[in-house]
Amino acid sequence: MTTKSKPAGRLISFEGSEGSGKSTQIARLAAHLQKIGREVVATREPGGTEIGEQIRNIIVHNSKGDEMCAETELLLFTAARAQLVREVIAPALQRGAVVLSDRFLDSSTVYQGIARNLAPGPVSAINQFAVGNVMPHLTLVLDVPTEVSLSRIRRRASDLPDRMERQNIEFYQKIREGYLLLAQQWPARVVVFDGTQSLEALDKQIWSEVQIRLA
Ligand code: TMP
Repeated sequence: MTTKSKPAGRLISFEGSEGSGKSTQIARLAAHLQKIGREVVATREPGGTEIGEQIRNIIVHNSKGDEMCAETELLLFTAARAQLVREVIAPALQRGAVVLSDRFLDSSTVYQGIARNLAPGPVSAINQFAVGNVMPHLTLVLDVPTEVSLSRIRRRASDLPDRMERQNIEFYQKIREGYLLLAQQWPARVVVFDGTQSLEALDKQIWSEVQIRLA
């Protein structure tokens, strides 16, 4: 009798500004993967665990949030990430699942490091401490012009934009440039996609890239 060997677990992170279409593409990629029989675990940052969702609430919706300093923000995001890695991601990879994460450590590098100007050395060290040896096998950056991202944010929310979404246009320009810089630094891991194309075209491009990487 032949036993089917367990597939290798894979962590795929999605990155990009708010309104770049990450959640839609995660749902589409999850469907493709499930169709070929892969176990999919979809998660998001900050959040994905009970502790992480509580931390998300403090960062995003705290009424005094505007007074939060960048250092606190970094430590809270990475604390939520540390919990997510140990509680959800590492066990799923162990089982051979494909984990799709809506944001991962690159968000801290770009938002807290590049956009909020925290020194890259400590940001990288704290990020590494939080994730241990769990790094994304592939990171998909959905790139959209800043104006597109801002107008999508404004259209999307029925209520007022949350604290992270109230930043100005320069902030979002830094975010966009930060991700493009990361892709130059880590070309084997970070791939940029044009997020302004149709959902179907983007879905097709992402699926073909992922198939190559999973093979
Ligand atoms: P979301 O809108 O994609 O759910 O992300 C929540 C907000 O948190 C978004 O503005 C990006 C921000 N963020 C950081 O600033 N640093 C991080 O490490 C993460 C994970 C998110």
